[in-house]
Amino acid sequence: MRSIVPKIIPNKFLADQLRQPSGLFGKFFMGDFLNKGNEKINHLTVELLDVKPTDRVLDIGFGGGVTIEEMLKTIDTGKIHGVDFSQAMVDKAKRRFKKSIQAGKVSIEFGDVGQLPFEAKIFDKVCTVNTIYFWKDPLVSLREIRRVLKKGGKLIISIRSADKMKDLPFTQHDFKLYAPEDIKHLLVGAGFNNISIDHRDRDEKFDSVMIIADV
Ligand SMILES: C[S@@+](CC[C@H](N)C(=O)[O-])C[C@H]1O[C@@H](n2cnc3c(N)ncnc32)[C@H](O)[C@@H]1O
Repeated sequence: MRSIVPKIIPNKFLADQLRQPSGLFGKFFMGDFLNKGNEKINHLTVELLDVKPTDRVLDIGFGGGVTIEEMLKTIDTGKIHGVDFSQAMVDKAKRRFKKSIQAGKVSIEFGDVGQLPFEAKIFDKVCTVNTIYFWKDPLVSLREIRRVLKKGGKLIISIRSADKMKDLPFTQHDFKLYAPEDIKHLLVGAGFNNISIDHRDRDEKFDSVMIIADV
């Protein structure tokens, strides 16, 4: 990822922008940067989520919104909700998906994974890609996700593994890195069932790990 960011950008600044895109840099640069750099892991996540036309789906920390774009190809009477605690990303998504929002197929909210702005048991599926590194309390947040999922609903947490991330300079600034098994244990602790790990691109510079669970 660092290879597509100009080298003059300090690592701490980049880490802060990855955590919560903000200001002019967040507004004009981060959305496209995230969409490009994370295209594959987001594509794999949507594929494994197996979105149906009638599903109500939530993406937490949608960033540039590449998942929303992809899920829109399938959604018919269902709806895609995106929540993010970056005002820059929320504003950008509201502009980008204006027509789909007007058509009632997309809804974009400002909010934190630790306190989701939704009623209980309303989503068929939830995904979150490259965000758990930044969560204040992962167990509380996973319980919060479980609260908004319907019984039988599905969650995918997608990450780059700690093995691949631990030596990158920008991850030295307030990233909490996880091995796939760490996420599995957290999911068990939060009451999720049928947990499986799909680990792709182990030999590439950046891997894609999708941890899948049911309520
Ligand atoms: C590294 S970006 C990943 C964006 C996108 N999911 C992707 O894979 O390209 C992290 C995103 O998650 C959001 N985020 C981080 N922590 C969050 C939290 N606690 N609640 C909601 N959104 C969060 C950030 O604002 C940012 O848009």
